[in-house]
Amino acid sequence: MQKISSVNAIQVFDSRGIPTISCKITLEDGISASAMVPSGASTGSKEAVELRDNEITYHGKSVIKAVNNINNILSSLVIGKNPNNQKEIDESLILFDDTKDKSNVGANAILAISLAVAHVAAKANNISLYEHFSRVYKDITGENVNHSMPLPMFNILNGGEHADNNIDIQEFMIIPSGAKDFVEVMQWATEIYHNLKKILLINNHSTAVGDEGGFAPSLESNDEALKLIVDAIKETELVPGKDVNIALDCAASEFFDGKEYILTGESKKLSSSAFTDYLDDLTKKYPIVSIEDGMDENDIEGWKLLTEKLGSTCQLVGDDLFVTNKKILKDGINKEMANSILIKFNQVGSITETIETIHFANQNNFKSIISHRSGETEDTTIADLAVGLGIGQIKTGAPCRSDRVAKYNRLLWIEEESSNILLK
Ligand code: PGA
Ligand code: ZN
Repeated sequence: MQKISSVNAIQVFDSRGIPTISCKITLEDGISASAMVPSGASTGSKEAVELRDNEITYHGKSVIKAVNNINNILSSLVIGKNPNNQKEIDESLILFDDTKDKSNVGANAILAISLAVAHVAAKANNISLYEHFSRVYKDITGENVNHSMPLPMFNILNGGEHADNNIDIQEFMIIPSGAKDFVEVMQWATEIYHNLKKILLINNHSTAVGDEGGFAPSLESNDEALKLIVDAIKETELVPGKDVNIALDCAASEFFDGKEYILTGESKKLSSSAFTDYLDDLTKKYPIVSIEDGMDENDIEGWKLLTEKLGSTCQLVGDDLFVTNKKILKDGINKEMANSILIKFNQVGSITETIETIHFANQNNFKSIISHRSGETEDTTIADLAVGLGIGQIKTGAPCRSDRVAKYNRLLWIEEESSNILLK
């Protein structure tokens, strides 16, 4: 295998117009590939540190320090290495940073290199990125995985930190569970999305979209949002609860005041126990099969309560709760919180650690869901990660806006080119 001969990073921009990093890695024979780093808005407090410059320019958000760290410091650790050795490369970067949260050189700097290494290795091996990810998983864990197409959760109605409306729950998603293949998944999702738009228009609601491409109308309640979605599913002549299910991401840390869950949109203040009952009621009324961050990341008693009450019937996903961190996940499993984990590369800051967390989840019968961030780019790495590791579920926004649709379009090509890879 040709060795890495150069590493170059520049500042580029994400879907919100905020600076992020693009990193390009070139091998001795001239083969090169690049990757970009995403960024969250409703971030967990224990996420790895996204290094930003905090200068007057770019409202403090530029990433020139992290870019310089790549070009002037980290590149020397990577040049001369075999790009197939993902773990060795990631570990050398982590060791150099020498902090728990990657705050020294920046998790965004480490991740940019980590992602670009995977891309260039796949290219040099002349295989698809998803096939390469299966190999990396085997290298890191010693175990084989089967490829499969993931079933998406499409975020078609946005609230919380991702929109300027009055809805408290951050994401209302549809899951085309009954679709036979990915082509049908996309047909159903886009038809429902456009029917929802029609229904919103008829009811004089705004059809402007939020950060992840879902509509962001001001509505009376979370209940009304769910009702409109069920209407859109029926309008598409699909059966709610059979063909199409619903998932929520409450991102509850964003409306927890340390004691109560404050639903401003519907003037409610609920204790952990009352909010559990509130969510339980919604699952009885609507075909909700998955709830993410149903409690605040530090509300351990609330999480236990929610898991006890809903854990056997509903997928309960820890996002801000686990921040893709194996140690935090282990602690959460011991405390019987949640039953699945959202996976975001940049919460932990390298491919190797992401894969180690997924492996740990697999060993503990926790489901994983591969996820984008609300600030995204045209980078589609997560689509290949989902297929290559046979994860089964992906969450990457509405079927609208190219930063979201790029991932779905990549999955359509994977299905087209590999007819033996089926929906899980
Ligand atoms: P974020 O939102 O990228 O703003 O954190 C996505 C999510 O909460 O799942
Ligand atoms: Zn979330």
